[in-house]
Amino acid sequence: MINFTGQFNLKTDVCCGDKSIAHRALILGSLAHGTSVIRNVTPSKDVISTANCLRALGADITFSGTTVTVEPITKLPKKTVTLDCGNSATTARLLAGVVAGLGVKARFVGDESLTKRPMQRVIEPLTAMGAKFVLKRNCLFELRASKLHGATINASVNSAQVKSAVLLAGLFVEETTRYVEQLPTRNHTELMLRSLGANIDVCGNQITVCKSVLRPLDIDIPNDTSSVAFGVALAVAKGVKATFPSVLLNETRLGFYRVLQRSGADISFDNVREVGGERAGDIVVNGTGDTSVLKPIIATAQDVIDCIDEVTLLATLALTVEGEHKFSNVCELQHKECNRIQAIQHIAEQCSQQAIFDGKDLTVISNGKLPKNRYFTSFDDHRIAMCEAILSISVGGGSIDKAPFNISFPQFLFMLGISPKRFGLIGENVSDSKSPRLMAHLASQAGICCSYDTVNLPRDISDDKLLEVISAFDGLNVTMPFKNRVATLLNAQCPTVNTVGRNIEPQSTDGYGIMQSLQSHAIDIHNKSLWIVGAGGAAEACIRELVGRGCKLQILNRTKSHAVRLCDKYGISGEVSNPEGILSFVPPCQFEERLPFPGSVKFVLVADYKGYSNLRTVALECELPVIDGLEMLYHQGAKSFALWTDTPVQCECRDFLEIIDKDTVQ
Ligand code: S3P
Repeated sequence: MINFTGQFNLKTDVCCGDKSIAHRALILGSLAHGTSVIRNVTPSKDVISTANCLRALGADITFSGTTVTVEPITKLPKKTVTLDCGNSATTARLLAGVVAGLGVKARFVGDESLTKRPMQRVIEPLTAMGAKFVLKRNCLFELRASKLHGATINASVNSAQVKSAVLLAGLFVEETTRYVEQLPTRNHTELMLRSLGANIDVCGNQITVCKSVLRPLDIDIPNDTSSVAFGVALAVAKGVKATFPSVLLNETRLGFYRVLQRSGADISFDNVREVGGERAGDIVVNGTGDTSVLKPIIATAQDVIDCIDEVTLLATLALTVEGEHKFSNVCELQHKECNRIQAIQHIAEQCSQQAIFDGKDLTVISNGKLPKNRYFTSFDDHRIAMCEAILSISVGGGSIDKAPFNISFPQFLFMLGISPKRFGLIGENVSDSKSPRLMAHLASQAGICCSYDTVNLPRDISDDKLLEVISAFDGLNVTMPFKNRVATLLNAQCPTVNTVGRNIEPQSTDGYGIMQSLQSHAIDIHNKSLWIVGAGGAAEACIRELVGRGCKLQILNRTKSHAVRLCDKYGISGEVSNPEGILSFVPPCQFEERLPFPGSVKFVLVADYKGYSNLRTVALECELPVIDGLEMLYHQGAKSFALWTDTPVQCECRDFLEIIDKDTVQ
């Protein structure tokens, strides 16, 4: 989770080499005759995926900061290689052409998002050239060694990736390969091939290529048009002046800027020059302090192709502008890192506006009045997360469930001049914790820019590693099974710890959370007889509080020896036969289900909020108060957050419970 406030400080001189060009430079460098030097390569996850795949194919690629040296492939691998393309469709599709051409046996794999993306679009044309694909479970596809031949391929989709795959395969074929585009798409592959001396010819919408010997590259990659677009969007939305130097200005990538210019933004290009066959220059946003310069945004089908990765950003900006905005033929957006049409609709809905998709075109209708502090889902898509970040900052605050910016633009936050406080949760199995949602709420109410990540750690992690993880955070929550271990490692005053931070004593806010939850149900536990179910860290934190309040306790735990240890430690003796309340700290399990429910019980507290609890069910049947784990979560988390940020909590538990209710319904 990451929460933004309205604060930012645009840093425009960020070196962020264009991702599309970097992929191609690494690939062609690996196929060239001689050593290539490529400067201003952004080490984004996608680009690293391409570099690693090329290494697996035999290239020698060395990063020294953002300068990359490529020694080409000289000896092909004999065995089947596995190419992990991560999140990057460009890696998978372009390398399909290369691998087919090289005649190497390869298995292409990728992450969950990539595995869902269409690959038939490269499989069909490459098969027409003689490539042999095999479709298998758990991979994108496999390629078997085969000899390619020339072919004429008519584009079935407007895709630069498909075009590039065919042209790259064509480099290995004696006969001519012809690719015919429907509408022109980005032409970096053609430009780079021509600048390296390939046999390539572009005539209208037809590109022909045949077997070629490539010169090595020596290039400075201009900054990424698509990454800089996020800075430009913020500058336009906030009416500020900003000049972004040395950006790629290839006409096939400028749709975003053209559309914004037409809709009233004062954007111009300066110092335009040629760099390695590509057009580059400065992008100047001449804001005048006016935040309402934009008229309705209209993007034609060609504009959409020329800013295929920025359409969601345009649609996001459109939400901030009153009117009806039109985007023609946006079908391809359904096949990106997520279904970006659905993502736009989600953003619109969270902002109480409309985004209507008729199967081809998208209409965004907005009254221009956007609420702040909305919570967005990123759908694990880097560009959607960045759109939501820009929108959140523009409207004065908002949070996003995840922040995968480094897939394409690791310097994103740096460009925005934002360094969020880094908070998080460590535990063994914390992926579905509600703490990130809670922290988003607390941070937005307090107006604090911060992130909150969940980190799953193996139970047997070494002490050194554990300390290393802890020290990476400004503030950390600790859950099972690390509560006691972290307390010992950090020499805490208390036996279990759930909260650590840079300037605070390691401590547990669990006990506080329990007491607050009980208090809010007007339950006075002083001197009461109670059952405690469980003997872990949270149970122990609770026992400490209850013993201090004169309670008579009995600990029930599946592993008896753990209960005995706590009894000895806290001087608990005897049995409680008529408990007035039961406080359970165990996850859903048979042990909990089989516990008796004495008639003396007047309330139950169930710390687990994720699964079925028999105690909860029986208590509700008996119309007894149930204190829910979410309430405890709220109170202990609010206290941790207040400690980390030194800010009193500004909100109420019931608002958080309502949020969780709403999320569950959605
Ligand atoms: C890219 C082409 C586009 C774009 C992607 C990068 C490229 O994809 O969305 O981020 O480098 O060729 P399509 O070719 O699928 O439109």
